[in-house]
Amino acid sequence: MADQAFAKVLARYEERAAQEAELWRSTPPGEMFARRDEMLLHVGAEAAEFLRALAVARGARHLVELGTSYGYSTLFLAEAARRTGGKLTTFELDENKQAYARAQLAEADLADHVDWKLGDAVALLDELAGEIDFVLIDLWKDLYVPCLDKLHPKLATQAIIAADNMLYPEMSRPDAEAYRQAVRDKGDFQSMLLPIGSGIELSCLWRSPTA
Ligand SMILES: C[S@@+](CC[C@H](N)C(=O)[O-])C[C@H]1O[C@@H](n2cnc3c(N)ncnc32)[C@H](O)[C@@H]1O
Repeated sequence: MADQAFAKVLARYEERAAQEAELWRSTPPGEMFARRDEMLLHVGAEAAEFLRALAVARGARHLVELGTSYGYSTLFLAEAARRTGGKLTTFELDENKQAYARAQLAEADLADHVDWKLGDAVALLDELAGEIDFVLIDLWKDLYVPCLDKLHPKLATQAIIAADNMLYPEMSRPDAEAYRQAVRDKGDFQSMLLPIGSGIELSCLWRSPTA
């Protein structure tokens, strides 16, 4: 059950997403790629609902999001953090996107559950303390593997990493495949590809608490 403030902000995001979907349909792909920073590039409703439910079921208290964009997925993960009594740390490169997201989350009464980081997530992850219970990786696709390497030693036992865009857009498939292989090479994840939204690789750390 979402509260009224959450529902109002979500409705605004969905309206913007519908307008952008129309633009994606009517504009040549090359032009849209050049304008990608104007777009939400969001995980979508199905994936966001799934991730929220998963984070709550995990009882995740330290959540991390790589790639805030305009804050669509942030809204759901912050709401999960409110339910678990935890906090979401979210990273974004673009100041304007972060400012927009901050305003939306404040309106949704979720500001107290978010720690905002501005800059290159790959570099900023060095300063992030563990232990992390839940991660959404959704920044530019060539950065998934370096982010995984930085996150891995900071993960709590039975931490969950969800990585978006494993199936779509198709141009991301080589990076997605490299990420999925890197997860397997770590040797301590139970991992599977889920056909939810744009394709989520869901990886649960199988490390024993005594390891
Ligand atoms: C696909 S969008 C994220 C969408 C968001 N998770 C959602 O569902 O609403 C990817 C975002 O990652 C950001 N990004 C790309 N590289 C980054 C980096 N090195 N550090 C932080 N953010 C980055 C981009 O600016 C972009 O806003």
